[in-house]
Amino acid sequence: MITGSGNRASMELDKHPSRIGQMFNRIAPTYDLLNHILSAGIDVKWRKMTVRYLSLKPGDLVLDLACGTGDLGFAAQEATPRCRVVGVDLAEKMLRIARKKAVKRQPGASKYAFLAADILKLPFRANTFDKAMVAFGIRNVLDPGKAFDEIHRVLKPGGSLAILEFSLPEKAFLRDLYLIYFKKILPFVGGLVSGDPEAYRYLPTSVNSFTPPAVLSLEMKNSGFKIRTIKSFTGGISYLILGDKRER
Ligand SMILES: C[S@@+](CC[C@H](N)C(=O)[O-])C[C@H]1O[C@@H](n2cnc3c(N)ncnc32)[C@H](O)[C@@H]1O
Repeated sequence: MITGSGNRASMELDKHPSRIGQMFNRIAPTYDLLNHILSAGIDVKWRKMTVRYLSLKPGDLVLDLACGTGDLGFAAQEATPRCRVVGVDLAEKMLRIARKKAVKRQPGASKYAFLAADILKLPFRANTFDKAMVAFGIRNVLDPGKAFDEIHRVLKPGGSLAILEFSLPEKAFLRDLYLIYFKKILPFVGGLVSGDPEAYRYLPTSVNSFTPPAVLSLEMKNSGFKIRTIKSFTGGISYLILGDKRER
């Protein structure tokens, strides 16, 4: 997954969908457990905040992209029980877990649909969804600008998109401390529990090398979104970008 000479600065990440899908299929069985351990449960709060910013309404059709094991969609449903959620992900094993969780939450699970697809080629008609959201997924996509074009296409005019993604703390002191955790402890614990050290080395490397929020929001703007908010969470460990579809 990480290619290059071994020099960290020169490392290139292979974000080809088949590689990313395989990696998440491998770590699917321990993904939820590690998420909550490694973030000390703060990820739950970030997803709740993201959903709150989206101001969902009863009856909204919500697209959860790169949905993984479904937690963002479940947070949406908790906030607004009468919304319907469609989750899309590359990794079939992540989706399998999402479907099981959906049935547990609501036998019959008619308010959720989960399907395998690439965010760059969505199998939906134009102007279908009221809201779209991506948690910790856009960083893994080969071409985020193209993903924003595709999300813009499937959203109804005026529909909103929320992007939740990792970043690094802005304050130097916090950043240094966090980097020790993020580059040393997290890959060690993640590798040990999942049995896949490479996947948990990919995480800090992909965050470190990803487009900063201000630039990502420009890409969103170029795809036809009016940016409403850029909000930093927990000292800058994660952030939210919220935008609305405007006609291009
Ligand atoms: C870090 S997980 C996030 C899962 C979930 N959104 C959450 O909040 O826990 C990233 C997910 O993005 C999916 N993914 C990555 N690239 C994708 C793409 N091009 N299209 C669809 N899903 C993708 C992966 O399979 C993985 O399940």
